[in-house]
Amino acid sequence: MKPKVLVTREVFDEVLEYLSQYFDVTSNQSDIPMNPETLATKLSDKLGAIITLSDRIDEAFLARCPDLKAVCNIAVGYNNIDLEACTKAKVMATNTPGVLDDTTGDFTWALILATARRLTEAETYLRKGQWDGWKLKQFLGMDVHHATLGIFGLGRIGQVVARRAIGFEMKVIYHDVRRAAPEIEQACRASFVNKDELLGQADIVTIHVPYSSATHHLVGKEELKRMKPTSILINASRGGIVDDTALIEALRKGTIAGAGLDVFENEPKLNPGFLELKNVALAPHIASSSKATRLKMAMLAAQNLVAALTGEKPPNLLNPF
Ligand code: 8YV
Repeated sequence: MKPKVLVTREVFDEVLEYLSQYFDVTSNQSDIPMNPETLATKLSDKLGAIITLSDRIDEAFLARCPDLKAVCNIAVGYNNIDLEACTKAKVMATNTPGVLDDTTGDFTWALILATARRLTEAETYLRKGQWDGWKLKQFLGMDVHHATLGIFGLGRIGQVVARRAIGFEMKVIYHDVRRAAPEIEQACRASFVNKDELLGQADIVTIHVPYSSATHHLVGKEELKRMKPTSILINASRGGIVDDTALIEALRKGTIAGAGLDVFENEPKLNPGFLELKNVALAPHIASSSKATRLKMAMLAAQNLVAALTGEKPPNLLNPF
């Protein structure tokens, strides 16, 4: 008898084929998100699960899944998982670091360029049939080349974003809870500054920190006030790190010039204020979404689950075991 596992959302066929070699797999290829009740019921007789950011794993939830031994997130971020509760319930938790850095870094650049050069606004104008000819002063944007890029969080993804900035001949400054090693600073050509210096000097502020209580509203009303009125804010990390209400207010008032956002508070519900703004480029949490990368992420989650349930240490174990 193979151990029973659940895959909570649609995944690639090759992932299910791989998992089926080891497990009796129940999958959700119809991709209908499950509410916590349904999920707990489905997991009540399962030993493991492949989950995503929309599956909240906490103490109350774990109490309803007594057989559970492992939850494997298809994501590098794991703020949907209460690690302490998992450890207490003897449930291994894993994530998918590394495999999405380049793809997420690339998409950050898509947001930077789209926001700086007003691509969303210009395309909307075109689609509405409003273009009546070339004008010298049409959709004047800001230059990305030679601008100052300010990176919050010089971790794996922050470093990718910084290295891509070399091609744009930018000045790169960063802030992090810990200063990076000299060889990383050198490879990224990035200088360490404090939070206020970053906000005050950067033309483009981009966020690459994990979500936690410490980073909740890292950028809020006060921080937005410290940014230049000509600057733009980019967030492809996690909803909740930016105070969306404060950001909408700042974008309305012209406190900053624009924002490029892939993540939002209360996803997938969007604060309707964003939709009324012209100076934003918006995406539905797709920064890691290239076919190759999403496959790698799902496969890595599956490998973590196989390891966890076959007596090996999962390569990306998050909690002590
Ligand atoms: C995922 C992400 O697509 O890895 C992360 O932390 O935010 C995205 O790459 C998403 O979390 C799916 O669970």
